[in-house]
Amino acid sequence: MKTQRVLTGITTSGTPHLGNYVGAVRPTVRASRLAEVESFYFLADYHALIKVGAPARVQRSTLEIAATWLACGLDPEKVTFYRQSDIPEIPELTWFLTCVTGKGVLNRAHAYKASVDKNNAANVDPDAGVTAGLFMYPVLMAADILMFNAHQVPVGRDQIQHIEMARDIAASFNHLYGEHFTLPEAAIEDHVATLPGLDGRKMSKSYDNTIPLFAPRDQLKKLIMGIVTDSRAPGESKSTEDSALFQLYQAFASPDETAALAKAYADGIAWGEAKELLFERLDQEIAPMRAVYDELIQEPARIEKTLKAGADKARAIATPFTARLRHAVGLRPLQTVAAPAASKAGKASAPAFKQYREQDGLFYFKLLDAQGALLLQSTGFAAPRAAAQAMAQLQREGSAALDALSSQIASRGEASALETALRSFSEPGV
Ligand code: TRP
Repeated sequence: MKTQRVLTGITTSGTPHLGNYVGAVRPTVRASRLAEVESFYFLADYHALIKVGAPARVQRSTLEIAATWLACGLDPEKVTFYRQSDIPEIPELTWFLTCVTGKGVLNRAHAYKASVDKNNAANVDPDAGVTAGLFMYPVLMAADILMFNAHQVPVGRDQIQHIEMARDIAASFNHLYGEHFTLPEAAIEDHVATLPGLDGRKMSKSYDNTIPLFAPRDQLKKLIMGIVTDSRAPGESKSTEDSALFQLYQAFASPDETAALAKAYADGIAWGEAKELLFERLDQEIAPMRAVYDELIQEPARIEKTLKAGADKARAIATPFTARLRHAVGLRPLQTVAAPAASKAGKASAPAFKQYREQDGLFYFKLLDAQGALLLQSTGFAAPRAAAQAMAQLQREGSAALDALSSQIASRGEASALETALRSFSEPGV
């Protein structure tokens, strides 16, 4: 059985917080330990440039996120762990994909549309302050995913549209150039709750309500003591619903522990005491990882080396794949150039498909050999698209498609000549 390829990236634009840990890092590290998956995890630093114009911050965040993943147990021997900007094939693929992506599709991307809506509301130029980088974000992301033919992409809900776009872009490329890309799917972890922040809203850098994952113990305690609660006094029974404190606890504790806290809420535990419980429970899980993190962060050269080794592993796939894609789109060494399509005598110089319409109004195609002799004649199709699809299948699959299409084939030429001609489409360069 073919293993599933799982791939995901984190944009290197800030310091990892508890929300990133619960929503992204912890589930991906766990998934990477499953035997039947081949995982690709990377630091999306090209993506960071879209949002962050501060070079030192991009660099610092790259170090912090790399150290976080490693401290949380990602095994770089078992997975492919790399930095996006170490793979020059990714920007190259981005360009190939750019050329098959409708501009209108990108106009509809949520992040771009949000900026435009904001500008419209403010009565300024719709594209004011919008870079082409923001506009192209989904294409760069598609290149990340398609480069490694990932099946599953674990992401948050806000990223689903990007995965759908990657699928569409892959399908467009495949349609034009042959089946090169796997169509990826978003893997949404439904049971992973979005973590609330200090103020009860979703924990997010943009709300400035985050708890850094590896804040020192005393700072962690201080932050937890600052979580917003209602004003119920000790002894008064408390509601677990809408309690940020309770949700945070639940994200770390076992079901039994969570049930115990729910009971304590009903029994009127004091907020201070509940916060103390949360702090100790969090620290219990985080402290061992924090110790590793603090060590790692002191040794950036070691992390750099790990990432370089990961890039070698990733490029062992990306480099030959990109060579195939270059060939597919026509970026080829000139000594292999095919002779012009027609010679002076008007005869084809390579096998060629011809599509045409007959007096009967139906659409037909035929395959001619290099000398113009008939190798294959189709039956009539009502729609030109159906004829084109059958032709594309023959070009893609070669003689393997003959059986499946037998009812659409009116006549065939000599079998070995037909097979050779078909091979010239499915295996270009042979
Ligand atoms: N856009 C993703 C985010 O902000 C990060 C990302 C970049 C990504 N490339 C990716 C995620 C490829 C999954 C696959 O969360």
